[in-house]
Amino acid sequence: MFRKKHVHHLLEEASDSEKGLKRTLSSGALVALGIGAIIGAGLFVRTAAAAAQNAGPSVTLGFVVAAIGCALAGLCYAELSSSIPISGSAYTYTYATMGELLAWVIGWDLVLEYAVGAATVGIAWSEYLNSMLVTVLHVSPIAYEWCHSPFEHSLPDAMGVIHTGIINLPALGIVGLLSLLLIKGTSESAFVNGLIVITKVSIVLLIIAFGWGFINEANHAVYIPEPSIYTDHQGISHNFGGIMGILGAAGVVFFAFIGFDAVSTAAQETKNPKKAMPIGILGSLAICTILYILFAHVLTGLAPVEFFRTDGHEASVVAAIHKYMPGYEWLGNLVTVAILAGFSSVILVMLLGQSRVFYSMSRDGLLPAVFSDLHPKFKTPFKSNLIIFVLVGGFAAFVPGDVVGDMTSIGTLFAFILVCAAVIILRKTNPDLHREFKTPLVPLVPILGIVVCSAMIFGLGWTNWLRLFGWLAIGMLIYFGYSRHHSKLKHHDQ
Ligand code: ALA
Repeated sequence: MFRKKHVHHLLEEASDSEKGLKRTLSSGALVALGIGAIIGAGLFVRTAAAAAQNAGPSVTLGFVVAAIGCALAGLCYAELSSSIPISGSAYTYTYATMGELLAWVIGWDLVLEYAVGAATVGIAWSEYLNSMLVTVLHVSPIAYEWCHSPFEHSLPDAMGVIHTGIINLPALGIVGLLSLLLIKGTSESAFVNGLIVITKVSIVLLIIAFGWGFINEANHAVYIPEPSIYTDHQGISHNFGGIMGILGAAGVVFFAFIGFDAVSTAAQETKNPKKAMPIGILGSLAICTILYILFAHVLTGLAPVEFFRTDGHEASVVAAIHKYMPGYEWLGNLVTVAILAGFSSVILVMLLGQSRVFYSMSRDGLLPAVFSDLHPKFKTPFKSNLIIFVLVGGFAAFVPGDVVGDMTSIGTLFAFILVCAAVIILRKTNPDLHREFKTPLVPLVPILGIVVCSAMIFGLGWTNWLRLFGWLAIGMLIYFGYSRHHSKLKHHDQ
């Protein structure tokens, strides 16, 4: 359980790239990959949810807390990915530092980040698809039943009828389509991704620029609401206002930052990874932080909190533009179309991250060999992509967006905590390892990273703690039932 992979053994595996994945990505491509993964549902769906359920306008402060946590963890990621530039992200680092059991825990936990995260964005995609059908194409939306999970019901419609979901078909469809694209190969997908990144950053800038003039100071009058309990129309209670509200909002919008670490999962496909990795990770994080804080300030200034709880609950950003920015319907329409493409690039990177983590785990014997079978022509782990599609599709089709969103946040926060710890440990166990990038002020920075990420986990509340715990318990069963006995390191040691 405590056996560790030697770091030089890991590095040898990485240089063995002839047998594995193709090295095609440059540092510019990595920043694009990062931004491609970062700007998405967190900004265009979860921000309004956090304002409605947790913090009102002080969601901007939630962004500040989340950004601090990410920057601290990002500095740790950058050190690890520049010294161990290998596919598999936090999983690989943990295997080298804290042993097999914790590596398994983190690999399993990363499923929450990548697979469940992809499902969350798929669900957001489905909301904006409906928005496009109604506001851009002027046709009927998809019926509530076919674009929501069975655990959700609507507010009463014009006739007073409350609808209950059956399956989220659009979310399932987009995940399937992108899984197929991924099987064809990463370098083509990275090119399309580049175009989408430009579009995405442009629409965020446009909303900030044009929306600024429509900020209604009345909506910002109570910037940090008094602490209270808010119960939403699904009957779920949230801590609203005060410090707990801000921490809760930070946990929710933390989702918007997820992805900069996905850059590290592509290390094995990167040219000169030791230099490109820190640039990719920290560069994409910095750009997004500035955009987010401005964006959240504008969004909560446009509409009152009540709007995001009712009419503006779905496709919130476009709904707010259409209602509160008269004359800018064109912007709403542009955002709708652009964001559908933008969400696709996020899903793509998350699916890619997931398949790479499973690839590494399978190479180590902790998962069956099918997860590392490469396609003879495309050189992608195609069987793994298909299995992941079933997993992600299941979450996207049958679980509510709020639930998968918060599960993604809490799972990723937990991964970040382990990454921070890994930096401290690796400095002790492998002091001589060549580190292209060094985290400043160790152990202070990693310890602060652990504290801020733990505070956000605290803010997410006990239902999410239970979900994380349940997920990890399932992981333990698989480890002790399968992985422990099939570990390559075990056979290597014997
Ligand atoms: N950060 C990504 C998003 O906001 C996951 O969609």
